[in-house]
Amino acid sequence: MLPPKLHALFCLCTCLTLVHPFYWQDLNPVAYIESSAWVKKLQALMAAAMFGQTKIPRGNGSYSVGCTDLMFDYTNKGTFLRLYYPSQDHDHCDTLWIPNKEYFFGLSRFLGTHWLMGKILSLFFGSMTTPAAWNSPLRTGEKYPLIIFSHGLGAFRTIYSAIGIDLASHGFIVAAIEHRDGSASATYYFKDQSAAEIGNQTWLYLRTLKRGEEEFPLRNEQVLQRAKECSQALDLILDIDRGRPEKNVLDLEFDVEQMKDSIDRDKIAIIGHSFGGATVIQSLSEDQRFRCGVALDAWMFPVSDEVYSRIPQPLFFINSERFQYPSNIIKMKKCYLPDRERKMITIRGSVHQNFADFTFATGKIIGYIFTLKGEIDSNVAMGLSNKASLAFLQKHLGLQKDFDQWDSLIEGEDDNLIPGTNIDTTNHHATLQNSTGIEKPNSD
Ligand SMILES: *[C@@H]1O[C@H](CO)[C@@H](O)[C@H](O)[C@H]1NC(C)=O
Ligand SMILES: *[C@@H]1O[C@H](CO)[C@@H](O)[C@H](O)[C@H]1NC(C)=O
Ligand SMILES: *[C@@H]1O[C@H](CO)[C@@H](O)[C@H](O)[C@H]1NC(C)=O
Repeated sequence: MLPPKLHALFCLCTCLTLVHPFYWQDLNPVAYIESSAWVKKLQALMAAAMFGQTKIPRGNGSYSVGCTDLMFDYTNKGTFLRLYYPSQDHDHCDTLWIPNKEYFFGLSRFLGTHWLMGKILSLFFGSMTTPAAWNSPLRTGEKYPLIIFSHGLGAFRTIYSAIGIDLASHGFIVAAIEHRDGSASATYYFKDQSAAEIGNQTWLYLRTLKRGEEEFPLRNEQVLQRAKECSQALDLILDIDRGRPEKNVLDLEFDVEQMKDSIDRDKIAIIGHSFGGATVIQSLSEDQRFRCGVALDAWMFPVSDEVYSRIPQPLFFINSERFQYPSNIIKMKKCYLPDRERKMITIRGSVHQNFADFTFATGKIIGYIFTLKGEIDSNVAMGLSNKASLAFLQKHLGLQKDFDQWDSLIEGEDDNLIPGTNIDTTNHHATLQNSTGIEKPNSD
């Protein structure tokens, strides 16, 4: 545990910037932050404050986990993803969690804070790692089931590593996509080969609603693009599995040819959080190669009504207690049709951000202020969500593993679970229909 004084200092700094985003605006922020000696001291203190309590958990499965980034082809029409996979060894360094400062600026903009917040976040978290061996060789000799993972609004490919790593440690290959539909806080691409060669990235930031703009048309267009990006990523990985040469634009040490014959081609599922949960539903309806889906605290608003009846595959809703609201649950229930496999559980005391890595990235107090943590311990919540997902995947992908030991979690049988939902949909009023106020981590 952290000495209380450090904790208080850490808190104070963060709160000042959060609660009064313009607190420092009358100063020259760049000069202020870079030249002042006491800021350096503060940085050191903050780093110390972070040390020891910032920990994304290792996977609980028996496989070592590796990680790499894949980007295929140029422009924003290409595919960009972070891959978690069973790896051969642990000789490689851990993976940098958020690898570019632009992501912090994007996040700060998404949170509606002063850009200085991005700078501060980047000081705190810019060198933080996640426990997967960067570019470690793939463990060969086995075909792995494949998961495509879709992130939430304001997120990006790297911040669901606790889920990606745990699934990979249980023998999955997990491809966490970075969407280019304007829903990521930030993402980048290369315009062409020469831009890639000199490392000239083109950054694309969150597309916010214009004043007076209706939200549904934008969100629906985005979810359609997201589903296309999921299918495109799947095409690509299956091509690599067939041995078709694909050159990773990022030119990393990980050789994609290792992935030839590594995928168990008819054991493919899709998982996503929030906007990514909507993407799961859209993708299942469009692409039958996804044999089942897990929607983590899905935000249903982007999906158009006719889609709910077009999902033949099994679908599992894992919800947080605090985020859900009647109109959202009513939409989930529209997916329940005779002869379709549907399951729903709610994790007691959990918040919307319990599914993303930020739930592990801060101490208790900061976590609580940002509602990145709920009353439930973040490890326990993540464990329940992942184990229930694994049991569901084993059942519907036909895996020969021992994940059926967690079958009862699918039914919500645990002290920390509620079978179905905590939301009463018979008394349906005062519901949030759009993303305003529900997607931001500090307001769920
Ligand atoms: C990087 O790309 C941008 C946009 O295409 C261009 O304006 C700029 O000149 C490029 N920078 C270099 C160093 O080539
Ligand atoms: C991993 O195991 C620990 C100890 O049993 C448990 O507390 C945690 O919830 C598990 N995490 C996951 C992601 O399953
Ligand atoms: C979102 O919903 C709230 C509450 O229903 C409403 O006040 C607001 O105008 C809506 N915003 C958009 C962008 O549709």
